Amino acid sequence: MPRIIFELPDDLLIGHMLIDNDHAKLVRLINDTGTVLQKKQYQESTCLIMEFIDGMKHHFVTEEAILQETNFPWIDEHIMSHRQVILKLPRLIDECEKVMDGQQAWNKLIDDLIDCLMEDAFKADMVFKTFLTQQCS
Ligand SMILES: [Fe+2]
Ligand SMILES: [Fe+2]
Repeated sequence: MPRIIFELPDDLLIGHMLIDNDHAKLVRLINDTGTVLQKKQYQESTCLIMEFIDGMKHHFVTEEAILQETNFPWIDEHIMSHRQVILKLPRLIDECEKVMDGQQAWNKLIDDLIDCLMEDAFKADMVFKTFLTQQCS
């Protein structure tokens, strides 16, 4: 059983099942990456980071479709914030190589994975959560 390194606080649940499931999957990938990095299983960690990068990109496509369907008024800003996160993702592979070479601590890499997810889940998606809550009330 992988050790829990990072948990998404409940107040970051958006209230849309597809979005929350995606975020939970990305959190699981972060924890799995941390587990294998601690065991110095670098081949597995590289695969998991690539899965995280694909997962983030896939999540953005799904989320943008949901924003469109619900007529979210700040969709352009949200898409822009996704693009900014996408630009940071390839760096994670370089950082994984630095961990393998002993140039960087594994937990710094995990912090960077968390930062990428939180930039979406906390900074951008909270605006959508407020919008969804208002639509439902
Ligand atoms: Fe988002
Ligand atoms: Fe998101």
